[in-house]
Amino acid sequence: MMELKIQLIPTGEIILSPGKNGENHCHNCKVVASDGVRAMMESALTARDRVGVQDFVLLENYTSEAAFIENLRKRFKENLIYTYIGSVLVSVNPYKDLEIYTKNHMERYRGVNFYEVSPHIYAVADNSYRSMRTEGKDQCILISGESGAGKTEASKKILQYYAVTCPASEQVQTVKDRLLQSNPVLEAFGNAKTLRNDNSSRFGKYMDIQFDFKYPSLTLSASSPSSPLPLWPLFRRQGAPVGGHIINYLLEKSRVVHQNHGERNFHIFYQLIEGGEEDLLRHLGLERNPQQYQYLIKGNCPKVSSINDRSDWKVVRKALTVIGFSENEVEELLNIIASVLHLGNVQYGGEDSNACITSDIQIKYLARLLGVNVSVLTEALTHKKIIAKGEELMSPLNLEQASSARDALAKAVYGRTFTWLVNKINTSLTYTGDSSKNYSVIGLLDIYGFEVFQHNSFEQFCINYCNEKLQQLFIELTLKSEQDEYEAEGITWEPVQYFNNKIICDLVEEKFKGIISILDEECLRPGDASDLTFLEKLEDTVGGHAHFVTHKLADAKTRKVMGRDEFRLLHYAGEVNYNVNGFLDKNNDLLFRNLKEVMCMSENKILTQCFNREELSDKKRPDTAATQFKASLAKLMEILMSKEPSYVRCIKPNDSKQSGRFDEVLIRHQVKYLGLMENLRVRRAGFAYRRRYEVFLQRYKSLCPGTWPNWDGKLSDGVSTLVKHLGYKPEEYKMGRSKIFIRFPKTLFATEDALETRKHSLATKLQAGWKGYSQKCKFQKLRNSAIAVQAWWRGILARRRAQRRRQAANTIRRFIKGFIYRNKERCPENEYFLDYVRYSFLMNLRKNLPKNVLDKSWPTPPAALTEASEHLRKMCMQNMVWSYCKKISPEWKHQMEQKMIASEIFKDKKDNYPQSVPKLFVSTRLDGENINPKVVQALGSEKMKYAVPVTKYDRRGYKPRHRQLLLTANSVVIAEEGKLKQRIDYGTLKGISVSSLSDGVFVLHVPSEDNKQKGDVVLQSDHVIETLTKVAICADKINSININQGSIKFTMGQGKEGIIDFTPGSELLVAKAKNGHLSVTAPRLNSR
Ligand SMILES: Nc1ncnc2c1ncn2[C@@H]1O[C@H](COP(=O)(O)OP(=O)(O)OP(=O)(O)O)[C@@H](O)[C@H]1O
Ligand SMILES: [Mg+2]
Repeated sequence: MMELKIQLIPTGEIILSPGKNGENHCHNCKVVASDGVRAMMESALTARDRVGVQDFVLLENYTSEAAFIENLRKRFKENLIYTYIGSVLVSVNPYKDLEIYTKNHMERYRGVNFYEVSPHIYAVADNSYRSMRTEGKDQCILISGESGAGKTEASKKILQYYAVTCPASEQVQTVKDRLLQSNPVLEAFGNAKTLRNDNSSRFGKYMDIQFDFKYPSLTLSASSPSSPLPLWPLFRRQGAPVGGHIINYLLEKSRVVHQNHGERNFHIFYQLIEGGEEDLLRHLGLERNPQQYQYLIKGNCPKVSSINDRSDWKVVRKALTVIGFSENEVEELLNIIASVLHLGNVQYGGEDSNACITSDIQIKYLARLLGVNVSVLTEALTHKKIIAKGEELMSPLNLEQASSARDALAKAVYGRTFTWLVNKINTSLTYTGDSSKNYSVIGLLDIYGFEVFQHNSFEQFCINYCNEKLQQLFIELTLKSEQDEYEAEGITWEPVQYFNNKIICDLVEEKFKGIISILDEECLRPGDASDLTFLEKLEDTVGGHAHFVTHKLADAKTRKVMGRDEFRLLHYAGEVNYNVNGFLDKNNDLLFRNLKEVMCMSENKILTQCFNREELSDKKRPDTAATQFKASLAKLMEILMSKEPSYVRCIKPNDSKQSGRFDEVLIRHQVKYLGLMENLRVRRAGFAYRRRYEVFLQRYKSLCPGTWPNWDGKLSDGVSTLVKHLGYKPEEYKMGRSKIFIRFPKTLFATEDALETRKHSLATKLQAGWKGYSQKCKFQKLRNSAIAVQAWWRGILARRRAQRRRQAANTIRRFIKGFIYRNKERCPENEYFLDYVRYSFLMNLRKNLPKNVLDKSWPTPPAALTEASEHLRKMCMQNMVWSYCKKISPEWKHQMEQKMIASEIFKDKKDNYPQSVPKLFVSTRLDGENINPKVVQALGSEKMKYAVPVTKYDRRGYKPRHRQLLLTANSVVIAEEGKLKQRIDYGTLKGISVSSLSDGVFVLHVPSEDNKQKGDVVLQSDHVIETLTKVAICADKINSININQGSIKFTMGQGKEGIIDFTPGSELLVAKAKNGHLSVTAPRLNSR
């Protein structure tokens, strides 16, 4: 079983950790990633009861403010600080570090659909980024809320999100670093501790982040409904942040010279004093004690527990370097900061009407730090230049005038340096890549929130006016535009009532009749204009306005809480009393001309950029502060209107900056003035979601076979087909002119869920398709390679064949030519042929040499080799003979010698010779056992060489008698049984006669005169050839063998003569013939 852990994490997501087997499983949740399972809270009903709904649109009782706040409370308790109203993000300041801003969190929100994950500032950031990419429209994120609600934090989180998740090259990394590092610098110079917020932004900031892509607008327009769905555009670049631009709004300069109780001056002063190195402080003439400086002690709050000035100093110092400040620039910047502190300590004394400076050392430091002449500065701080009748006169200032001139200088120097700082940061953030401004931007607006203090002055008036304008924009872009959209799309709709604060904006800014106009008029008019005359003028002009009250105009109850020098504006966010004291001065924002002149002479390069001489020669009076602010706001509205807005509405949970405290009254107030209920009502009364047809179809077309993979017809028909297939009920949606409106989020969620499931099967299909395709490609590649190799190899083979053919043809040609010229002298035409003939003869010869000495075959040589051939033949024969001889055994040699002799004697002479050739001669035909021992004894020492049984025909009657013929070393012996019948010495043997026929009869001729002999002996041997050969050898009578034809004569003793007649016949017959001759008939064995 797998293990499943459900973990509720601070973003409100339910994460299902994978079990041991690595599976992710959940009943009511949606699987969106393999690293864990993100569960939509909408699916987790039990969790919803505990942690509230993540989109107010899902609230059952959506008209109830109590239910709204209860939902906020539930979520706040669970540290779920983010909740949506549709696409608007409501954020409650937790006043503690939640671990929801890690890189993992960023990754989780990256590229994921808004609805797929729980509400988060990253979701808004990502959504804007993706909208910018996919729709190609510049975006802006408007962060609003009262002071301390978390606007600046939110904007920093967004910036960090882009810095981490957007692609980056090395160059982009520098831009990212600078974008991020611009924050601590601007916060040091522009933020301060107030009663509401320890890090309150005292200036408005709009920051453009520039991304390096611009891409073609969508191809589809409403006028071409049948055109194909938009192609997902191709990006030319990757979407990295490549630059930025900051616009600052109305810095609260008055803080430089004065702070309310419990508040501080801008952080930079404290950071410098606390963190600055000893040498630096010495150089700047500063002491490490903020209490020493008049400008830092007004609020009586030099230390704040939540702020570490010393470490912040290090951060700022490093940030300045990252942004690209040179050492000189930093030094000059710090000179200015220090000079402001010294300026605050400039003391006046002397007569009341003729102020003079009593603190000499201060003024010396000041002059050095500002890079101006001491006496000129001293004079400028105590006199004012008057031009009377064309003549310049220096008129002394009284003490009060001198102090305000000093403060004015301090404010001007600080204010302008702040603007310079912003410009400097802008220069370092300038996008250098492409001069054609080819980039998209996301704007971040973090501007001071609505503010109500005990004493509210000109600054609060401006800040709250700014918030009225932003509220107006919000109304324009959401409430109004939402309702306008229904109208434009032709959706039947019952309008929702909301408070349109245009009336208040008009009260403040209307030409001639608005408060700003009246203020300007008072500032400019000659005569004794004062803050109080301004108040009177207000009463006269806008006294009847429903949102304007003064002490004089108020009812008794209100009078109690209003001073006579105050006017009250009924802002959309609440009532605020403004004290008119200082309004005129602050609006005039005047700096005496001679002080400006001194600043223009400064050696400090920053100051010369802040105060330029053209300003002195410009006769035209500069616009008042309020008018400038009004103009800059108008411009801001223009910028924001040109972009696609997203909203982050920040709420402050309590006034004591405490975590976990949910001050319901305070929150109800904010919910009200932020217009969140109206926002929700419009959202709910209408349709929770809407999509342009092409976008809707593009996203969900895979869910319906009719629209998948492409819909060719009208887009609205396509969407209709799709939603019908999805089973949308008629009350769940409406079709507008170019958009589909979906009433309930659950409908869209169900569709999203279906898409999620479908994605898997699509992915499988795509995978299969892709695998098939890639395999096919691989195969094609292999095939092509094989074909190429084949073709190449075939080519080689064909070329080889062709070459061989060519060679063969040449050879044949040479051969034929050679053959034609074969009988000529050796010449180029025939040399090949001749050589070939020789060669082939020799080669042929090698294979056909005679196998043995008897083999006389020999190939016929060509004419040129006749002699050589003959030599070779002889050599070959010799060689064969030689090797034959070498192999021969003594026995065989003996045999062969005998056979040779037999051949000499009988070959071609006796008919049965050929038959005898294959029969080997034996050494004897009778061995010791067959010879009578007496005979052996009679022979004595005479060694017997051969013995053979023979038939002897006696001389009378030719009777055949069995005898044994024995050959010894000296004689032929005829023996019968144990008797030696006859011995013929070889010396006496005259000759031997034998017939030419195949018979075995032979005659041993002995001398007739020898008495011992009884005449010639007629014998017959079955082995006549062998017997006679042996006799011839033993008796050395090879030449004495006569081969007779017809008859043989022989002597029979006593002079008588016998005759043997030989006749060929059919069989061997030896008998005495009638004529007294011995007749021998012998069969013919060989045909002659
Ligand atoms: N998301 C957050 N998580 C933790 N703390 C936060 C968060 N947002 C705000 N805070 C805390 O609240 C304080 C005030 O927030 P912030 O400075 O952003 O307010 P603001 O809306 O910009 O106010 P102002 O209008 O005065 O500039 C921060 O210094 C921080 O301590
Ligand atoms: Mg702020």
